[in-house]
Formats: sequence, structure tokens, C-alpha cells
Amino acid sequence: MDLPDIVAASYQRAAGAGFELSSEPEVGWLLASLTAAVPDQGRILELGTGAGVGLAWLVHGLGGRSDVSVLTVDVDPELQALARDGDWPDYVGFRLGDAATLLPELGAFDLVFADAPGGKLHKLANTIAALRPGGALVVDDMDLSRHDDRGLRDALSDVREQLVSHPELVCAELGFSSGVIVAVKRRL
Ligand SMILES: C[S@@+](CC[C@H](N)C(=O)[O-])C[C@H]1O[C@@H](n2cnc3c(N)ncnc32)[C@H](O)[C@@H]1O
Repeated sequence: MDLPDIVAASYQRAAGAGFELSSEPEVGWLLASLTAAVPDQGRILELGTGAGVGLAWLVHGLGGRSDVSVLTVDVDPELQALARDGDWPDYVGFRLGDAATLLPELGAFDLVFADAPGGKLHKLANTIAALRPGGALVVDDMDLSRHDDRGLRDALSDVREQLVSHPELVCAELGFSSGVIVAVKRRL
């Protein structure tokens, strides 16, 4: 499938800034498809804005909807300023700061893309707590064979263990792209 225009623009913005950590298209299509399951008046959260590629996939997935809000958090002011340069719908909000610290005050979400160290490698519990029942958490970059850094591999293994052993989560490990886990919170 061709890249949606808003996504292609974001990849170009990332390339122009030399930002190499954007999500891969396979992960993007997954994110876009999951937005269709977000209920009316739902809320979506992205941890780690980067250059706005993941955000673009989320917006693409939402199509013409305007009942949903999307909040994206990044700790890097220059990067987030770069991403803000995009042509975003009014329902998109940007927040600057450490995701792990901010999470307890952000409220509850139906879809979370945890793509920053804060809220993924550190204080993942805060991210899980922010999931509504039926809400989905997506993490990528989980394929350990792609990472040389032993400390990072250990941290990612810990993330995996926390997710797959969590009693409130139903997980699927998807072995494509950078390695993805989708964790959906049970409706108890
Ligand atoms: C993998 S990139 C995000 C890519 C983006 N989500 C996408 O799909 O293209 C990780 C981002 O997390 C940000 N970051 C690093 N530590 C963070 C933290 N503690 N809280 C929030 N953002 C953080 C970095 O500045 C970087 O932009």
C-alpha cells in the first residue's frame, strides 16, 4: 500500500532533520488500524513524538473523525517543535516533558503507543495504569536481535515480561518489523 500523504510528509520531515528513530511503516499500519477500534469520544496517547511519524499514522487511521483526541508527549523541545510543524487536526495535542513523570496526570486512554524510554523502559506500570478497560497498548522495537546494547536488551526483556505476565493484559507478540507487542487490557 502507498504511504498516506500525511505519513509521507512526516517521513520527509524526519529525514530532513536527520531523525532516524521513526516508526517503520508496518508498525504504522498497525497503529492506524487500531484507531478504528477506539470508541466514540476516545482518547489516544503517544509517548515519544519524534518527528511526528507515529502521530501521522494515528491521524491517518482516524480518517474524518473529530470526536477522538490524540495527545503526544516528548521530552525534547527541538524535536517536538519539528513535529508541531506538521499540518495536524485540531484534536491533536502536544505535551513537553518526561512521559513517565507526566503519565499519572494525563488521564486514561483507549490506545497508547509507548515509544519512548519514559513510560516503556521506565515506569511501564504508569502506562498500563493509564489504559482503559478494552484499551490497547502498542510497543515496538522489541526484536532483541536488532539491538547491540546489552543493557537495552535486558530492559526490553523486562518490558516483555511485565506485559506478558500482567494479569490484566492479553498480549500478542508480533514478529514483524522491529518486533511488536500489542497488549489489550481486559474488561474485568
Ligand atoms: C523512537 S522515538 C519516537 C518515534 C515516534 N513515536 C514515531 O513513531 O515516529 C523516541 C522519542 O522519545 C523521546 N523521549 C526520550 N525519552 C523520553 C521521555 N522520558 N519522555 C518522553 N519522550 C522521550 C525522544 O526525544 C524521541 O523523540
